[in-house]
Amino acid sequence: MEHTITFLPQNKSIRLKAGVNLLSAARRAGVKIPTRCDGKAACLMCKVKVDGDQLQSLHPPTDAEQRKLGSLLEAGTRLACQAKVRGSVSVHVPEDPLKAAIRKQLERQQQENDDWF
Ligand code: FES
Repeated sequence: MEHTITFLPQNKSIRLKAGVNLLSAARRAGVKIPTRCDGKAACLMCKVKVDGDQLQSLHPPTDAEQRKLGSLLEAGTRLACQAKVRGSVSVHVPEDPLKAAIRKQLERQQQENDDWF
């Protein structure tokens, strides 16, 4: 049985069988999730968020994921490389920190330009 995994804010969806982890699903959907450890639960760069009412669509956290994320798990944060799908789910992919900093700087400059005129 296949499930629909939707990545936000990209709004890209893919249908896959249960048991696939979110990092693999994202790659197949063409969504970039950063990683340095290539899925070994070591770098924590693949953090994503899932709304509380959809957490049951993922398998429970692995021991490695529990050790790495601790209380962040309660807020819906999961490691994409560890979280395996068992139902349809929407996944929030955080903005790349460097891109976010550049975007904020550009927004500040635009606001200053708007204030000037
Ligand atoms: S890819 Fe490194 S922790 Fe998930």
